[in-house]
Amino acid sequence: MTTETETGQGYETPMGVAWEFDYDVSVESVQALYEKAKNLQWNVTTDIDWDREVDPARPILEGEGFGFSQMPLFQRLSKAQQDALRAHSAAYRISQFLHGEQGALMTAATLSHSVPDYEAKLYSATQTMDEARHVEVFQKYLDKLAIVYPMTPALKELIDATLKSGHWVKIAIGMNIVVEGIAMGAFHNMIRVTGCDLLRDITVLTMRDEARHVAFGNLYVGQAISKMHPDDREDAADFALAALGVMAPALMGSSGPRSENDRGGDSRSGSGRDDPAFIQVLVNSEIDPRDFAKGIREATDAGISLEPRGGTVRILHDLVLPALSRVGLITDRTREILKERSIEPNADTSVLERLEKVD
Ligand SMILES: [Fe+2]
Ligand SMILES: [Fe+2]
Repeated sequence: MTTETETGQGYETPMGVAWEFDYDVSVESVQALYEKAKNLQWNVTTDIDWDREVDPARPILEGEGFGFSQMPLFQRLSKAQQDALRAHSAAYRISQFLHGEQGALMTAATLSHSVPDYEAKLYSATQTMDEARHVEVFQKYLDKLAIVYPMTPALKELIDATLKSGHWVKIAIGMNIVVEGIAMGAFHNMIRVTGCDLLRDITVLTMRDEARHVAFGNLYVGQAISKMHPDDREDAADFALAALGVMAPALMGSSGPRSENDRGGDSRSGSGRDDPAFIQVLVNSEIDPRDFAKGIREATDAGISLEPRGGTVRILHDLVLPALSRVGLITDRTREILKERSIEPNADTSVLERLEKVD
């Protein structure tokens, strides 16, 4: 039987299925997450005031919260181009939330049939429902913007690699640690830079769920890693490194891996050179993509940061690397590889823990 969907995006995965007939709880911390998840369910239809319109006079990405506004090129654009770039960049970014949430929905469902413990299966069912809600809420918001941009190649590649990885530990590394670490940072930053009350409200609710998903990655993957044979641990560490390799160029922006420009705002898209969806953002804003690429180089050469201002977190440095380190996925070997790539293997979990406490 073929797995092709109408849009030709289907593929086979080698995922295993694990029955568990011991219904005693063995990991209390995961059971506690399951209890918390049951108490914190919310309904997209009834818990959000959808009558509010997205005010066209109030940009979704306000002021210097829009990192590209710091480019000299931006000041040379017409007011209409500036407004269009703000609006389309916001739609592009929220579209990535939507597509990423669909990926999370599928990985969470996969976890429910592959994790070995009873309470982890129950927990995964709550995460699956959470992710369904997140797909729904961002789809409904994008309906108001009347545009959805395609998924960026890097995010698609990372989630596909996660779904195809064949083992629940790698699925949880790819999704619960790397993708959801990135998502938690992106949501945190969006809450601080958006001028749209509706978007802020839905992002706050979504982030509260994501904090549980990241906590699951920490608790459950951490204990699995600690029991692994060293060879298997190195294999898992390699998978984590490869996941970072897919996302790091986008997280670090156009100025390359020596930059600390990984704050998850506009820098996530870099200059958009390899991303057809971002090229479309520029075309829709009546900006020549070649001029924009030159504008990025001009800003970089002048030492101008394109990070959105306003207390944003550095996603890779403050969230993803500490999360990987915390569960033992930065080994002596991969630490050296990171250093060779000029990535500091930050193990300080203080920012990560602050964001995890949102609920
Ligand atoms: Fe989610
Ligand atoms: Fe999630």
